[in-house]
Amino acid sequence: MSTAEDTGAAPVRTVRAGEERRVKGAVLHAPGGLDRLVVTDLPDPGTPGPGEVRVRIRASTVNFHDRGIVTGVLHAPDRHVPMADGAGVVEAVGADVHDLAVGDHVVAVFFPQWQAGPPVIDSLGSAAGIGRDGYAREVVVAPAGTFTRAPGHLSHTEAAAITVAGVTAATALEGLAPGEVVVVLGTGGVSTFALQLAKAAGAAVVVTSSSWQKLQRALDLGADHVINYRDTPHWGQRVLELTGGRGAERVVEVGGPGTLPQSITAVAVGGRISLVGVLTGVEGLVPTDALMMKQARLQGIVVGSRSTQQKLVRFLETQRIHPVIDRAFPLARIAEAFSYQGTGAHLGKVALEL
Ligand SMILES: NC(=O)c1ccc[n+]([C@@H]2O[C@H](COP(=O)([O-])OP(=O)(O)OC[C@H]3O[C@@H](n4cnc5c(N)ncnc54)[C@H](OP(=O)(O)O)[C@@H]3O)[C@@H](O)[C@H]2O)c1
Repeated sequence: MSTAEDTGAAPVRTVRAGEERRVKGAVLHAPGGLDRLVVTDLPDPGTPGPGEVRVRIRASTVNFHDRGIVTGVLHAPDRHVPMADGAGVVEAVGADVHDLAVGDHVVAVFFPQWQAGPPVIDSLGSAAGIGRDGYAREVVVAPAGTFTRAPGHLSHTEAAAITVAGVTAATALEGLAPGEVVVVLGTGGVSTFALQLAKAAGAAVVVTSSSWQKLQRALDLGADHVINYRDTPHWGQRVLELTGGRGAERVVEVGGPGTLPQSITAVAVGGRISLVGVLTGVEGLVPTDALMMKQARLQGIVVGSRSTQQKLVRFLETQRIHPVIDRAFPLARIAEAFSYQGTGAHLGKVALEL
C-alpha cells in the first residue's frame, strides 16, 4: 500500500458532527519540509465585516518562493498556510464594499497595501503565504482591496497565475513599445507569462532554456528566437547577432549574478534589465563597466501594485491571453505539486485546485 509520503498526498482530517463550521486548508508545521505540510480542517472565517469580502478560493499556483517556504529554506511561522496566489468567487460582501459583488470572480493581490504608483514596500513580511496566511485554504475573509476582479475569459486556475507571475511580468515590461526586443530567461512561470505579454504588445521575443523541448513550446507560444543556454553559454552574444548588433531593449532577468553578465551583453544601449529572480544565487561578479557603457538600467522588481494588476486583467481580456498551466494538482496532493515544481520539468505554472 502506498503512503501519503510516496504518493505526495497529504493526510486529510475529517470533520466530526457537532464541530464548529470548518474549511479545508493546508498547514505547514515549523520548521518546514514537505512532510510537515498537512491538509486539515481550519476554522471557517465567518462573515465579512465592513470593507471586507468573503472569497471561496478555487485555485492557486506555485511560485519559486512558495517552494522555499514549504521546504523550510525560507522562514515561516508555525501552522502557516502557504501560497501567495489565489483566485476564486466572492461569497459575501460586508458594508461599504462597492467595487466587488457576490458572484464576482476575483484574484488576490500580492501587496494589498501597495494600491498604485511607485514602489512603497521593501519587505515581503505583509505578503500572503509569507508573513501571513496564504491561499491554500478554501475560504478567506479579507479587506476588499486584497483582491481585484479576474479576467472573464479565464478559469480560476489560469487566473491564479496573475497574483505573482503575471503582475511581476507586467511590471517588468511596463512601457514596452511595439517592435522592441525582449529576452526572457528560461521557461518558468514569470518568463512564460512575460513571453505572452510581450508578444501581445507587439515585441519580438528571444527565449532561453536548458531544454530543446521547452524551446519548441516557446516557439509555439510565439517566441521569435530561441537559444539553449546549456549549448550556448555565451548567449548574450547570440542575442546581439540575432538583433543585428543592436541588442534587446528589455531583459527579464530571473537568474541573478550567474546570468547578469550575459544579460548585460544582450541588452541594447539604453535598454533595461529587470532583475526579478536570483535563481543562480545572491552574490557574484557583475561587469559593472559593461553595464555603464551600455547606459542600461538595472531595476529590481518585486511583483507590483494592485493598479498594475487591474491593468493586466484588462490587457489579458482584450488580448484573450490564457496563462500557461503546465499541470494542476488537487489540494490533497499539495506536496506532490511542490515536488513536481522542484524537478524543473514544468513550463509556465504548476497549479493547485481547491
Ligand atoms: N521579484 C519578484 O517579484 C519575483 C516574482 C516571481 C518570481 N521571482 C523569482 O524569479 C525566479 C523565477 O521564478 P518562477 O516562479 O518563474 O520560477 P519557476 O517557474 O520555477 O522557473 C524556473 C525556471 O528558470 C529557468 N532557469 C533556471 N536557472 C536558469 C539559468 N541559469 N538561466 C536561465 N534560466 C534558468 C529554468 O527554465 P528552463 O527549464 O527553461 O531552463 C526554470 O524552469 C525565482 O528566483 C523567483 O523567486 C521573483
